[in-house]
Amino acid sequence: MTQPTTDAVVVPEPPLAARARDIARRANLTLASTPETGAFLRTMAASKPGGRLLELGSQTGVGTGWMLDGMDEDATLTTIEQSPRIADACRKTFAGDPRVHVVTADATEWLETYDGPPFDLVFVDTTTAKFERRDLVYRHLTDGALFLADDLLPQPKWTDEHLPRVHRLREEIVREPDLVATLVDWASGLLVATYRRPSGD
Ligand SMILES: C[S@@+](CC[C@H](N)C(=O)[O-])C[C@H]1O[C@@H](n2cnc3c(N)ncnc32)[C@H](O)[C@@H]1O
Repeated sequence: MTQPTTDAVVVPEPPLAARARDIARRANLTLASTPETGAFLRTMAASKPGGRLLELGSQTGVGTGWMLDGMDEDATLTTIEQSPRIADACRKTFAGDPRVHVVTADATEWLETYDGPPFDLVFVDTTTAKFERRDLVYRHLTDGALFLADDLLPQPKWTDEHLPRVHRLREEIVREPDLVATLVDWASGLLVATYRRPSGD
C-alpha cells in the first residue's frame, strides 16, 4: 500500500483561481498563493456565512478565487491591489460575480481612511500590513474575526533582510494581545488567528 503523503493537495483549483494563476504566470508574477494556501483560505472563508471578507494584496486574484469558492451567496469580498494594471486584470476575472469588489489603492492608505463596516476575515498579503502596521488592520475587524497570512516559513528566494523580519513576526504574533494566534508550519507557513477586541474598546 502506498503511504499517504502530508503535502498532497486533493482540492481541485477553482476555475477563477486557475484563470488568475494563468494570468499571473503569463505576466511573470511569482507571488501568487500556492494551491495549499488557496485550500486553507477557502476553508476559512466558508466559516463566515454572510461574512464580509477582506484581502490586502490581490495580485491577479488567485487567493480571491479560492476564497470566493468557499464563500456563500451572501458573503462579500473586498480585495485591495496597488498596481492599476494588476488590479484591472483581477477585476476582469471576477467581473461576473457581484460578491467581489476589487479596489485599486495602497492598502495602508486605504486602511487609514476606510470608514465602512468592519470585516469578519482578513487575508493580509502586503508587506506593510503584515509586518509593520497590523494595528491598522485591527481597526477594521469584528470581534472574533479571522486574521490570516501565509509565507511564514523560509523560502530560497528571500532576501537577507526578509528572514529576520519573518522571525520577528513569528515571535510577536503569538504574544500579540489583540490576537489568539497559531502558526501552522505547513505549506508556505500559515498563520491563523482570531481577533479579540481589547476590553474597554
Ligand atoms: C503576494 S502578492 C498577493 C498574492 C495574492 N494575495 C494571492 O493570494 O495570490 C502581493 C500583492 O500585493 C500588492 N501590493 C504590495 N504592496 C501593496 C500595498 N501597499 N497596497 C496594495 N497592494 C500592494 C502587489 O502588487 C502584489 O500584487
